[in-house]
Amino acid sequence: MAKPKRRYVCQACGSVTHRWQGQCADCAEWNTLVEEAAETVFSAKHDLSGGGRRIEFVPLDAKVPLPVRRKTGLAEFDRALGGGLVPGSAVLMGGDPGIGKSTLLLQTAAQIARSGGSVVYISGEEAAGQVRLRAERLGMADAPIKLASATSVRDILTTLGDMDAADLLVIDSIQTMHSDQIEGAPGTVSQVRGCALELIRFAKSSGTALVLVGHVTKDGNIAGPRVLEHMVDVVMSFEGERSHQFRVLRALKNRFGAVDEIGVFAMEGHGLAEVSNPSSLFLSGRDEPLAGSAVFPALEGTRPVLVEIQALIVRLQSGATPRRAVVGWDNGRLAMLLAVLEARCGLNFSTAEVYLNVAGGYRLTDPAADLAVAAALVSALADRPLPSRSVWFGEVSLAGEIRPVSHAGIRLKEAAKLGFAKASGPRDAVDKVNPEAGMDYQGLTGLLNLVDRIVANP
Ligand code: TYD
Ligand code: MG
Repeated sequence: MAKPKRRYVCQACGSVTHRWQGQCADCAEWNTLVEEAAETVFSAKHDLSGGGRRIEFVPLDAKVPLPVRRKTGLAEFDRALGGGLVPGSAVLMGGDPGIGKSTLLLQTAAQIARSGGSVVYISGEEAAGQVRLRAERLGMADAPIKLASATSVRDILTTLGDMDAADLLVIDSIQTMHSDQIEGAPGTVSQVRGCALELIRFAKSSGTALVLVGHVTKDGNIAGPRVLEHMVDVVMSFEGERSHQFRVLRALKNRFGAVDEIGVFAMEGHGLAEVSNPSSLFLSGRDEPLAGSAVFPALEGTRPVLVEIQALIVRLQSGATPRRAVVGWDNGRLAMLLAVLEARCGLNFSTAEVYLNVAGGYRLTDPAADLAVAAALVSALADRPLPSRSVWFGEVSLAGEIRPVSHAGIRLKEAAKLGFAKASGPRDAVDKVNPEAGMDYQGLTGLLNLVDRIVANP
């Protein structure tokens, strides 16, 4: 018999090598390789040398009833999911600790249970008493949820196998689960992957919608195994600044719907409240315009959200390296924009510290934010407020041109609805302006154009 090969699995990215190394060759993390048993459960059970069975092919248009989505009772959650939970699907819910994942799922579980669904909530992190306390605080302690504190996947599946199929199974969190079929401590790649595989297999065969809570590491990945993201049908990320009230639920992957839809919640004393009209949530509400502040009509999926972008520029007297700090936007994108402003418009940021903040703890991913950020930066540098009640949107190219963006019409309409009278953006969006809205639209060709407008127009 051949000598079993040794197998080392990186605990950060899940890649496998047959030789131990200090650094993972794939993700360059140090000391993450851990030896695991080489024989997989699959190859031990199945002798593949004996030939297999023939598989059946089916036509694409075979008549299969489409699964009926189950509403979660939280319209914002349904919206982010693309219309509700699909039976038999697996959802991975990631997010920073303390952001409100357990709260959101307990509220969902209680809503479904109250409307007659059968819900199992397994907490591996908290004792059942703690979950009950939270339910009391949410005013949902009367919901008929089947609650248990457990970490053994075998125990969980044995119990579930003996009862009628549940509509929803919540596992909080997958990192605390362990399977005795697999070597290693809970939280290691092989355990997380193995436990998830067993739970997903159960969900698919029983038609139960499965929600797995996953921890997020410092750099924002779902802890340890990215492999989990490949195994599930939907990956959701629950985001927000813990010090702020607002939380955004975003779909990062969705096999049953669009990925750019978001759900917006506010964390309140008695749990998460839905915010069905978020468009002016992230504005400061001040009337007097301030230098360095620009309003951006962002678009999340089909949903417009107006956010305020604030820039602060501090000139340094000494030759120290100036800081650049960004909250709510991409660091690299700011560096690029500063470089374009320097190279194409002759502005000088090299001896200045630049701070950029998106108000309200919102995180912008929309590329059309470039122009609003540039407007905030130029306004802060020139110490001139932007015109009051104005919005800015457009993508900036390396050549300093303002490029067209998607859905200019929806952005302008929302801004007009909230009482904004002026808008600046790409030149081609001018025909998207609704003549009845009475909005003054200025099409910009390039950043130079923008600088002229801000510096020349008091
Ligand atoms: P939690 O759901 O435990 O977060 P996660 O599971 O993502 O780690 O939420 C924890 C935070 O939410 C905690 O800091 C307190 C706050 N919170 C409220 O503000 N109001 C509430 O009604 C509840 C239940 C929690
Ligand atoms: Mg939790």
